[in-house]
Amino acid sequence: MHKILFGFAVICLVFANFANAQKIELTVDASKSGSKIDRNIFGQFAEHLGNGVYEGIWVGRDSKIPNTRGIRNDVVNALKAIKVPNVRYPGGCFADEYHWRKGIGAKRAVTLNPNWGGVIEPNTFGTHEYLDFLDQIGSEAFLSVNVGSGTPQEAAEWFEYLTTDQPTDLAKERAANGRSAPYKIAYLGIGNESWDCGGNLSADSYLTELKKYSRFVRNFNPAQQKNDKMLNIAVGPGGGEPRFVEWTETIMKGWKSRGWSWDMQGLSLHSYTVVNWEDKHKSVGFGEKEYAQILKKTLEMEGLIDQHAAIMDKYDPQKKIALVVDEWGAWYAPLPGSNPGFLYQQNSQRDAVLAALNINIFARRADRVRMANIAQMINVLQAMILTDKEKMVLTPTYYVFKMYVPFQDAIFVPVNFAAGTYTHGDITLPRVDAVAAKDKNGKLWLEITNVDPNREVEIDLKAIGMTVKSAVGETLTAPKVDSVNSFEKPNAVTPKPISARAQGGRLILKLDPKSVTVVSVEQ
Ligand code: AHR
Repeated sequence: MHKILFGFAVICLVFANFANAQKIELTVDASKSGSKIDRNIFGQFAEHLGNGVYEGIWVGRDSKIPNTRGIRNDVVNALKAIKVPNVRYPGGCFADEYHWRKGIGAKRAVTLNPNWGGVIEPNTFGTHEYLDFLDQIGSEAFLSVNVGSGTPQEAAEWFEYLTTDQPTDLAKERAANGRSAPYKIAYLGIGNESWDCGGNLSADSYLTELKKYSRFVRNFNPAQQKNDKMLNIAVGPGGGEPRFVEWTETIMKGWKSRGWSWDMQGLSLHSYTVVNWEDKHKSVGFGEKEYAQILKKTLEMEGLIDQHAAIMDKYDPQKKIALVVDEWGAWYAPLPGSNPGFLYQQNSQRDAVLAALNINIFARRADRVRMANIAQMINVLQAMILTDKEKMVLTPTYYVFKMYVPFQDAIFVPVNFAAGTYTHGDITLPRVDAVAAKDKNGKLWLEITNVDPNREVEIDLKAIGMTVKSAVGETLTAPKVDSVNSFEKPNAVTPKPISARAQGGRLILKLDPKSVTVVSVEQ
């Protein structure tokens, strides 16, 4: 009996080793190039929601937490390292109930935040604080104006206040509030989810509003008249259902027949990774089944983008209008004990893999997807950073964004590989994913995601147009699919160095299960 069991074990071992030893040939065609991977696809989103702004960014000037003009220094330093290109603000659903005047000046209005827990909104973080924060982290402004409960005039006055260099009353008020020079506002979001929390408008009604806001909300900053013009981003679809197909059709058709007096440069797309909105997955304390389910769901981003990009192509074959995925990421059940209105969740190795898969989907469509904003930056949904009073934790998703920094504004380079498969139960997914790009110095970068949580993968790397000598970079993996960085163990999931040298003309990279790896390819 023992002999039989032993024999069976040996067979299993041989089989397992054979399976583990399977190589995936990956060829980077360095002689070819595609579109620029716009750094804006690594954008962030900060809404007045839960502890995203208050505590996450703003602690106030009198706080014991080290801060610069009320903005916490630890968070600023962490964000500087991932080179955040833009931060969408102040919402979200919050934006369509936001009245900017309540958030300027010495005396701030105390209001409510009815969307998110019905808590007090002290308005101590407003226009000037947001723009100071952007200056501190070196990022650009993406302001969403209130279409739902505001007026074009209110939004127009906000932009006069922000951008004119003429001595108008609003400019004088701005100067009295501490800023004499006009601000640069790079992106204007015209409403948010106007088909839902932003006012439940029909596509036609929204198109009417879009035309008005696009016409009247002007950017007067002299430095933004010829170059660096502000880009208008219209509300786009939130899914693939017929009502969203109609939405994209209506806005794009309206744009196609526009006159001189209005324009837009971007159409937004919102898509969260949620399997069941009524019974959301947990963000920690889950197993392989939930890992596979969530990753299967997240890959639907690909089809969704292609569906709406095809409609955009009909009206805009030159791809003048960017598809702006300005809300994406995993939306899980709130952590037990937290305010459900605060959307506070943990962030695991599963989220690192999820982030990489989405970034790669955007990068492969870089001609159309030129901006994206993960939801949300701090303490909300798939966050980069979690804070608890003076403590701060960087999440696995943060490290993915950090590893991808070389891809910002790099030129897409095609990669060929047979992905293989990873199967769990009735779910089968591509086993690996990869993208490559050349940075402005001509250096070649390669990202490879090993989706399989059980098997390492051997990448047999070849490059057309260059002799590969070595690959050097970082890899992020973790003991379990739900491994997280906690306040007690903040460094449980952090990137480790990885390198390989070519031998006999071949370069083999061994990648851990459930890992995200970024290497530079050296010749
Ligand atoms: O990110 C949280 C919310 O999700 C945003 O406020 C809203 O736009 C979306 O429905």
